Amino acid sequence: MPGDSTLRFPLAASIPARTQVGIVGAGPAGLMLGHLLHRQGIDSIIVENRSRQHVVERVRAGVLEQGTVDLMHEVGVGARLGREGLRHRGIYLAFDGARHHIDMAALTGGRAITVYGQNEVVHDLIEARIETGRPLLFEAGDVGVHDLDSSRPRVTFRSAGAAHEVVCDVIAGCDGFHGICRPTIPASHQHIYERVYPFGWLGILAEAAPSSTELVYSRHERGFALFSMRSPTVTRLYLQCAPDEDLGPWTDDRIWSELRARLSTDDGWRPNEGPILQKSVTGMRSFVVEPMRYGRLFLAGDAAHIVPPTGAKGLNLAMADVYRLSGAIAEHYRSGKRAADGLVFREGAGTNVAGAALLVVDDVAAAPQRQRQPVRPSSPARRTGVSCQFDRCHDEPGRELLRRAVRL
Ligand code: FAD
Ligand code: DHB
Repeated sequence: MPGDSTLRFPLAASIPARTQVGIVGAGPAGLMLGHLLHRQGIDSIIVENRSRQHVVERVRAGVLEQGTVDLMHEVGVGARLGREGLRHRGIYLAFDGARHHIDMAALTGGRAITVYGQNEVVHDLIEARIETGRPLLFEAGDVGVHDLDSSRPRVTFRSAGAAHEVVCDVIAGCDGFHGICRPTIPASHQHIYERVYPFGWLGILAEAAPSSTELVYSRHERGFALFSMRSPTVTRLYLQCAPDEDLGPWTDDRIWSELRARLSTDDGWRPNEGPILQKSVTGMRSFVVEPMRYGRLFLAGDAAHIVPPTGAKGLNLAMADVYRLSGAIAEHYRSGKRAADGLVFREGAGTNVAGAALLVVDDVAAAPQRQRQPVRPSSPARRTGVSCQFDRCHDEPGRELLRRAVRL
């Protein structure tokens, strides 16, 4: 793939000097925001520091909630999802050797989750973006955002050896948890609620037909395990492990033996095994920064909040963020406030979403207290700078944030 010019779109010459919305990051949040804005006639540039191949092949989320599926269809990027996505009515919870089916669709009036890899979502959104002809730039170097508290915020970067600057009305920080947008906000303007958990997930992708039609979440004395899938021929599996687990000693045989021990049930069910295609370790963290706005910079998705993968929530929250943000930006242009000194967005644009994220964090923050057995002794939640133990925040500004979110 390297060297294929279609993967470095657009050509450097077509990078504009000015646009309406500068989007940093071509993950689900950035790409969906660009698409939603395009549908409302709003121009944007998307600047991504990794290659297209890397972004499309990165193995991450797999579970789409009904709202995300509905949004994909509504905005015309759901055709392949409709054909290839695996719709699940419910999930299994396994403990003490038995699986218990939870019929989510029956409990929620027919809503369901759909298994469709995040990489497929990203693939479809990139295709849609390219079709619009609007700029999407991969492999950008030294990406920076500037003058956020002015009316002419700028995105700067290097592309194909040349330095570029794009003046924008608004910048959207969709560059994930490790991106550059959030750290650009002065620390005095950030309230961070954070909890780092003393365990992680060792995830594998295996070439094996899923042996269950729905996901199996298993509580076991050796640690949690999750059976999931990506397609009729590929199984996705997770093992609870230490947050800094060394993958070295985890031979394929050891992984399968541990998965068998934690997932097999007394009725003879167990995962099918096959060649392991990919292995990785993911730490567990709950994190929310508020407000999600500084001047003309708006954060969305993992840049503003992280929930541990246990909830299968992050991608769905990212989509919810940009849906709201695109609405606020469109409303701004529609109501002609451009001439006003400073962009006036409705209060709810950021706080609502942060409130939603906080509710999710609240849910998952309670979980480890019920978890009997981390693989290694637990360490206290991290406290850095303005970060604080989640439970404390929950009773103070977090509670106020929730109250505000509910009012809006
Ligand atoms: P990202 O996907 O992180 O995208 C940010 C983009 O910005 C990236 O492409 C990155 O390369 C780019 N970027 C970073 N820095 C810069 C820079 N300086 N300049 C330019 N670009 C930059 N969520 C679910 O909803 N369901 C699930 O089942 C689920 N399972 C998960 C399983 C695992 C193992 C993991 C790790 C996560 C899972 N998640 C799940 C969470 C989900 O993957 C994330 O919440 C989602 O990727 C967030 O999307 P985003 O666009 O906000 O951020
Ligand atoms: C997957 C990830 C999750 O966090 C989850 O709860 C269910 C499935 C997955 O990657 O398939």
